[in-house]
Amino acid sequence: MTQIGIDAIGISVPHAYLDLADLAQARGVPPSKYVEGLGVRRMAVAAPWEDAVALAANASRRLFATTGADPGQVGLCVVGTETAVDHSKPIAAWLHRLVGLPQRARSYEAKHACFGGTAGLLTAMDWIASGSAHERTALVVCTDIARYPLRSAGEPTQGAGAVALLVSARPRLLALEPGLSGSYTAEVNDFWRPLHRKDAVVDGHHSVACYLDALGGAYMAWKDACAASDVHGDLGRRIYHVPYGKMARKAHRHSRMLDGLAETEADATFAREVATSLAFPAEVGNVYTGSLYLALASLLHHEAAALEGQRIGLFSYGSGCVAEYFAGRVVSGAGSVAAQLRLDAPLASRRRCTVSEYESIRALDADADSRPLGQHEARDGEVAFAGVEGERRIYVG
Ligand code: CAA
Repeated sequence: MTQIGIDAIGISVPHAYLDLADLAQARGVPPSKYVEGLGVRRMAVAAPWEDAVALAANASRRLFATTGADPGQVGLCVVGTETAVDHSKPIAAWLHRLVGLPQRARSYEAKHACFGGTAGLLTAMDWIASGSAHERTALVVCTDIARYPLRSAGEPTQGAGAVALLVSARPRLLALEPGLSGSYTAEVNDFWRPLHRKDAVVDGHHSVACYLDALGGAYMAWKDACAASDVHGDLGRRIYHVPYGKMARKAHRHSRMLDGLAETEADATFAREVATSLAFPAEVGNVYTGSLYLALASLLHHEAAALEGQRIGLFSYGSGCVAEYFAGRVVSGAGSVAAQLRLDAPLASRRRCTVSEYESIRALDADADSRPLGQHEARDGEVAFAGVEGERRIYVG
């Protein structure tokens, strides 16, 4: 089988975060409900100039800066998002210029709730496997701002961030298994965002059930596909789409019980097989399309060296709904590549904001897309959404 997979990862998160114990106190909820009950600690809070385009550009720039990879080698760029900033113009068009991708690249945006990035990754794999890449790489960028109404049950499960993945025929992190995956689709009303809304509508408990149904369907389809192929091997680690940490815990129990383990046996495998992948998501919250890949970044940051040669399982879920289960093998040398990427650096240089600052930022949401030019903060080397001039979105940096 051709070796195709993830060569490098770049992350970008907003510069402010809210501590969820502070939010719990403000909402009159015991902090233990958020921290232990939902498995969340902090959530990223995006300022109006940290929109989905700026986050995508900053994650991609970071990827190229930390690896020295050449943006000029990119032949395909897919942006997965459910936080589109325009009904027509894709984030990929701005990204193409802001990152300096070649004109002879194909760039576009993919939407299916939290699945858009995985759709891009699977397409990138097939593009390389088909021979269309001609030695070029693919850039897949997942970028989102997760917003629920203030004081809703979903509020503590917000977040924001982007994860950029460089996909190549010489992957230095994770060799994927093209053609070997399990898919699942069903029309459900678990989570959606009507065109006029900035924040999502969610049927929370139903969404948990839909996620688990989709996991069961995709996982069993993947197991059948593996049984019919010559690719075998146990999964040393398992990572999941992480709307909040507890969901990944429920997902893991569900899939291990489908393997025939009793509930207590399934739970006993959680610490070894899943826990390190949840460290970054607990710092950032839900990043929708990027959540699975933030979990991958967390796993590789903490354990890549120890996992070289091991196979890991990945589960992607997009409400509405579609899901995919697939796997990859950590490449020899991935430990030193992951160390070079310094994947935790963007999480370290952030500022804790207060609940009232967070609420003031949310109050700006309604007018965010028509802000006049100039109301932004830009950091050195980083892209910011500077506002709108003559109906055109202007990015600086
Ligand atoms: N101490 C410790 N634990 C506590 C507690 C306390 N004081 N109080 C409650 N808990 C526990 C509960 O027992 C419960 O645990 P279990 O799930 O193990 O039973 C947990 O905390 C949550 O409590 P509730 O179910 O009462 O919480 P809620 O109803 O207020 O909200 C939610 C939960 C529905 C998931 C809500 O956060 C939500 O709507 N989130 C957004 C939707 C979402 O993320 N869905 C996930 C699947 S869909 C998806 O994955 C796509 C996507 O990205 C959105």
